[in-house]
Amino acid sequence: KIKDNFQFILFGGTGDLAHNKIMPAFYNMLKKDILPETFTIIATGRRYDSQREYLAEIKKSLSSNIKLDKRIWQLLAANIEYFELNFKDEADFLALKKILKQKSAGKTIHNRLFYLATAPGFFAEIAENLKKFNLLNLGFEDRDSKLVIEKPFGSDLDSAQQLNKSLSNIFSEKNIFRIDHYLGKEMIQNIMVIRLSNPIFRALWNKDYIDNIQIYLNESEGVKNRGKYYDDTGVVKDMIQNHMLQILSLITMEEPDDLSSQEISRKKVEVFKELAEINLDNFDDHIVRAQYTGSKKDGQEIKSYREENSIPDNSMTSTFIALKLFLNNQRWQDVPIYIKSGKRLAKKEAAIAVEFNDDFHQSYLKEKGSESNLLLIKIQPEEGISLQFNTRKPGSINRIVPVQMEFCHSCEQLFNSPESYEVLIHDMIVGDKTLFTSWEEVYYSWKFIDKFMQKCEEENINLHHYPALSQGPKAADELLADDERQWWDKK
Ligand code: BG6
Repeated sequence: KIKDNFQFILFGGTGDLAHNKIMPAFYNMLKKDILPETFTIIATGRRYDSQREYLAEIKKSLSSNIKLDKRIWQLLAANIEYFELNFKDEADFLALKKILKQKSAGKTIHNRLFYLATAPGFFAEIAENLKKFNLLNLGFEDRDSKLVIEKPFGSDLDSAQQLNKSLSNIFSEKNIFRIDHYLGKEMIQNIMVIRLSNPIFRALWNKDYIDNIQIYLNESEGVKNRGKYYDDTGVVKDMIQNHMLQILSLITMEEPDDLSSQEISRKKVEVFKELAEINLDNFDDHIVRAQYTGSKKDGQEIKSYREENSIPDNSMTSTFIALKLFLNNQRWQDVPIYIKSGKRLAKKEAAIAVEFNDDFHQSYLKEKGSESNLLLIKIQPEEGISLQFNTRKPGSINRIVPVQMEFCHSCEQLFNSPESYEVLIHDMIVGDKTLFTSWEEVYYSWKFIDKFMQKCEEENINLHHYPALSQGPKAADELLADDERQWWDKK
């Protein structure tokens, strides 16, 4: 339970994120009795005219996902204040300051968080206005207020640096919380525990015992109403630069000396620095990019990417990518790390597959049916772990059969994203930065992605196609088939 009171000032309080993630997270936290006795949420936005209308809309979106408990809803509603604010209007910031002053009168405020759930183009301007109109220092030292921002943190290394420069003039790094919501997912938090607290994995976590690693984040949804953003961004910047590289770093980093957020971040940064540049000579053997075409499902037409709202007819944006990566370090030298992610694939599924070497088997065991060991960490929709190992086939004469030992973390729970926001909101309030992305991580991940994107442009590499709601482009399977391997989500 969070003991100290807090003020949570939400910019973009009327947007999708507030409706679908942030407010449901607060509701659940209240239900679980995690929030302190007193707290204030000031939701700013422009879409609604009054407090009443705002609360009615929030209630509506909450009720569409959960069966509302009236008492909890009333508790939440009593702590929310809607405030109409235009980011450009100085008078609005002064009026917001007045409200904050009123809310703080006669109390010690322990935490003040400014959460920017707005388009990233507004981050710097809002932060500057907060400083200019002295909203940060009411009862606080300026740099003690916290700033929370959602990805994307820039659209390349340059813009990320510029953004960071503006923000770090106002907030100290300790108080900037950059959200990568994948880090709040249960099984992503579990990676370090699985790796470090089990000697059977810990001892084998290197190139001598691991043949390859696969990470896949498949989505079945298209770009929905985010066409403009997505077409400018594409899958590499939308999913790889952040979520995928974060997962990759947690899976491959050296063991941290302690569990402090700084130490873990240091180890992750080492991974980003050690990512091998893809060799220009065989670029095509390492990358498959693709875009979805139209298809038909159950008699219904499914739109192609280019037919989605706000997407130009001739767009060359990738909605799918598969990559073969390597790390230049002792632990992982020559171990391929295959990653892929795409929109409009057959089903939503994310997992990490760690395939162990089978060089240790005698060939006569392979002939009898023995296969490699596999550790599968399932991220979503099912959360769990599966371990494949070999055993004697019951009742057979000397046959071997691979079997799976399954642990299902949450079979019941089909969609876990709001929960990840509960964890993240809790941690930002109490000031624990472990599940947030540090500036160094952002810097080095962009550095890698910038080079990569530049090469893609120089090489003008082929854009493959795949039908919407299919298994993805064939070329992605060939990427592994050429190495005599197969994607584990296809097995
Ligand atoms: C976001 C991307 O960061 O993650 C979206 O911008 C993507 O395009 C989403 O759909 C996926 O998140 P989740 O939790 O649904 O897997």
